[in-house]
Order: sequence, then structure tokens, then C-alpha cells
Amino acid sequence: KFDIKNYIIDDETVRKIIPKRYSDSNKGSYGKLLLLTGSRGMTGAGCLAGKAALRSGLGLLYLGVPASLTNVYDSILIESVTLPLEDDDTGYITKGCIESLKEYMAGVDVIALGPGLSTKGDVGDVVFSIVENSKVPLVIDADGINVISKNIEVLKKSNVPVVLTPHPGEMARLLGTSPEEVQKNRINVARDFSRKWNVITVLKGSRTIVALPDGSIYINTTGNSGMATGGTGDVLTGMIASFICQGAKVHEGAILGVYFHGLCGDNIAKTKGEYGIIAGDLVEEIPYVIKSRL
Ligand code: APR
Ligand code: MG
Repeated sequence: KFDIKNYIIDDETVRKIIPKRYSDSNKGSYGKLLLLTGSRGMTGAGCLAGKAALRSGLGLLYLGVPASLTNVYDSILIESVTLPLEDDDTGYITKGCIESLKEYMAGVDVIALGPGLSTKGDVGDVVFSIVENSKVPLVIDADGINVISKNIEVLKKSNVPVVLTPHPGEMARLLGTSPEEVQKNRINVARDFSRKWNVITVLKGSRTIVALPDGSIYINTTGNSGMATGGTGDVLTGMIASFICQGAKVHEGAILGVYFHGLCGDNIAKTKGEYGIIAGDLVEEIPYVIKSRL
């Protein structure tokens, strides 16, 4: 099959595509990210994703979160701006927030959504509205993916590049199959999905695959079992969105994200081993892994 291009993501790949820093720059130069995240009991996901975006070089972080939970983000993510979204007073966003979101969406370079959102109540309607109306690239993870599984045709209504970052279980949900089936044939599953829906698919797990709509495949070489712990995927979402915000092409943002995310895990494992790594450790390692590859 000569038309199929497979690439390995390694040092060489990323060195060429890391967004540059310029002495004559300011925070506007490195992009504005809107992160739609959070629901009762799942505030950590957005904190991890948001911090990861900042540690990857982002200029400005805006957090769209349920109004009744803003205190959490205000105290944990002191470098960000919190945008309260209409919610049901118990910590789940409602359709009422679509109007305010439109205003927030107008001023940013990338929108990331999904970590810790839950799939309850109006979350699906809010996510579908963003997919249909966004004028900037989208990075969709976790519960963003889970609600799209229930209405996958919405992907055809998007006018912008979309990155989806499913783990094998989420990929299976998108396809209506089982995680085992996904894992048996990871490359073809990711490739077919990207072609069919015109999206960039980041199929996570050992040897994460980045699949492009044109059929090309990039296979990651970093990462280890220490990363099999809650919240590490949220960190990846923030990293990918951050690199795109800083000016990387959308698929390059995905490649940079998965490579550096895995490299964080590999670096930490050298001292901590693969047992006790937690997601927050990855976030703190990001500046060092980027510096090591400049
Ligand atoms: N080797 C290399 N990388 C790994 C390994 C491994 N053995 N195990 C996990 N990883 C990496 C994956 O490639 C991915 O980048 O760790 C990350 C795990 O991401 P997720 O599966 O999304 O895990 P998590 O962050 O806990 O998800 C948070 O969102 O996806 C939902 O159901 C999930 O509620 C959970 C939440
Ligand atoms: Mg996840």
C-alpha cells in the first residue's frame, strides 16, 4: 500500500516544529486558550490541563467553568482568568451558558474542551454548539468525546480543524465497538476515523498514534507505564492546545504534545521509577523537557 505514510515521532521530528520564542514578544504573542472544563467533583482535570498549557509556553489562559465552582479555579490556577458559565447551582453547566461562551470564544486562538466536564444535563448541547460555531481550532478530550459519541454527525458541521484525544475506551465509544477491538488494530482504527470524519485523532495508550485526515500516521516513541494514572490525559490536552496556540500547525501541536508528554514521564521515571508518578509531576516536568530539545 504505497499511499500510506507512517512516521515515527522522535527527537528529530519535534526539534523542527517547536514554536519559537522571540525577544520582542509579549503574552499576546503566545496565544490565548479557552479551556471549557469542570463539574462537581471533577475540578482537578481542568487544573491539570490548564497548568500544563501554561507550563508548555501559553500566553494567556481563560477557564470557562461552572459558575458555582469558580472559587476552586481562582485559588488553584492563580495565573489564569476565570470565566463563570451559567450552571444549575450544583456545578453542572446549562444551555444558558451558550450565549456567554460565544463572547468568550470570539477572543481566543484555540478552544480545548472536555476534561472533567461530565456528560450530565446540557453538556452535550453546549459541546455541540461549540463544534458547530467555533472559528478557531478545537482540542476535544474526555467527556467532550463522550458526548460526541452520542451525536457523531456533529463533526461534519465543524468549519475548523479538530483534534480528538480518545483513550482506547473513548475511541471504542466513538465507533460503537469494544476497547479490545480498538487495541487489536490501533493504526487502522485511528487512520480510518481521521479520514472519515476529517479530524486529527490522537489515539492514546502505549505508543500513542496521531492520525491525520490525509491518512498519514505518526507513532510516538516516548512514555511509560508510570503514566497509567488518573489525570495524565488531562495534562496532554493542555499541552496540545498550548502548542497550537503558540503557532504550531494543528497536527504539529498534537505531535509535540504527545512527544513531550511522554518525555515528561520518561524523565521522571529515571528518578522516581514507574510506580509513584502522579499527573501533577508531569506538569512540573514540562519546562525541562522542552528546554532539553531546543
Ligand atoms: N505507556 C505509555 N503511556 C501511557 C500508558 C503506558 N502504559 N498508560 C497511559 N499512558 C498515557 C496515555 O497515552 C495518555 O496520554 O497516559 C495518558 C492517559 O490518559 P487518559 O486515559 O485520558 O487518562 P486520564 O487523564 O485519567 O483521564 C481522565 O478522562 O478520559 C477520561 O475516563 C477518563 O475520567 C477519566 C478522565
Ligand atoms: Mg482522559
